[in-house]
Amino acid sequence: MPEATGPGIAGLRAEENFSDKVPGAGCPGTLEFMPIYLDNSATSFPKPSQVTEAVEKTLRLNAANPGRGGHQLSLQAGRLVMECREAVARFFGARDATRIAFTANATEAINLGLFGLLQPGDRVVTTSMEHNAVVRPLRALSDRGVVVVRVPADGLGVVDPAAVKQACTAGTRLLVMNHCSNVTGTLQAIEDLGPWCRSRGIIFMVDAAQSAGIFPIHVEQMAIDLLAVPGHKSLLGPTGTGFLYVRPGLDLRPLLYGGTGNFSQSSTQPEEMPERLESGTLNTIGLAGLKAGIEFLEAVGLEQVRSHERELLGRLIEGLSGLAGVTLYGPLGTARHGGALSFNVKSLDPSLLGFRLDREYGICCRVGLHCAPEAHSTIGTFPGGTVRLSPGHFNTVDDIDRTLQAIREIIATEK
Ligand code: ALA
Repeated sequence: MPEATGPGIAGLRAEENFSDKVPGAGCPGTLEFMPIYLDNSATSFPKPSQVTEAVEKTLRLNAANPGRGGHQLSLQAGRLVMECREAVARFFGARDATRIAFTANATEAINLGLFGLLQPGDRVVTTSMEHNAVVRPLRALSDRGVVVVRVPADGLGVVDPAAVKQACTAGTRLLVMNHCSNVTGTLQAIEDLGPWCRSRGIIFMVDAAQSAGIFPIHVEQMAIDLLAVPGHKSLLGPTGTGFLYVRPGLDLRPLLYGGTGNFSQSSTQPEEMPERLESGTLNTIGLAGLKAGIEFLEAVGLEQVRSHERELLGRLIEGLSGLAGVTLYGPLGTARHGGALSFNVKSLDPSLLGFRLDREYGICCRVGLHCAPEAHSTIGTFPGGTVRLSPGHFNTVDDIDRTLQAIREIIATEK
């Protein structure tokens, strides 16, 4: 069984007291206890010990520049990057690993896809559940003459695939949407829309920021042309990692132009993938961690990851729905619910609840609009937002019960 740092997923609990591992424990101004971390939709924490070790080992032993020299350390770093690329390709069902372009996060991957593809006059269909990582580049592109059509979701955040198909009228170049909402955890029917888009020659781009590493994604079987993924969320890698998968045959304009370590004699950007989309030194250290994160997930199995997550979400839903004045959002506990649970307590500002959870109980969650104002408008929680709890691989049932107890106590004192 893979070893986990910190508390966690059934059977993977580490023996050590996690508080010993908090960096800076005992130093003034730093935490001296381990909070209950329920903000995995923002970034996963803690990471498996294999990830920490891979990052540390690479930084200590092999932080040379990959693909930028013939010496052995550069070659070794290049091999590590290639192995991470192969791990990503394997995990997401891509036959050709060179179609994976590494980025710093999902936002960069989405920008690379949208700006690399779209021209003035192109027609794009999207949904009302998108994160600003999609909303803002599309807004900038619409200012340049790209036509953007938005399909509204229902009050649970569910986008009806039939409505999307209807919106994709003749001349539509791209459908871009998230797989799972970072606000409601609503899982969209991409397995239906991908093959439908392929049959009509519409490019299908998926923002998998909240689903990758929890739900299985197979780019070929799901007919996904562009897949944007962060490495630091449920893939359990470090921040500063992410990638865009680009279907073979689809050519994108680069977002960045510059050194690629090959074809150096030419002043034009190489045509070859992945170099075409990867200028500048790669984050080898982060990618070592991302590879370890993916290997960890492969060893545990997504079924177990998902079933643990479902158990924790189910417990939260059950505990919260019994409380007077609590409103829960999203397709609660169904097969189409993953990642996050949003809720509000009547006449209690979400920021105050989040603040008290953090300061009085050491419980970390995210409140407000979650960089997704349109999604909040869709579910009727704009502009105040919600309190969002997002359990991760290393949360326990006890974390959930303590959180529920803390919420009960706060509600009682705010009456
Ligand atoms: N998009 C991330 C979140 O939902 C950062 O918190």
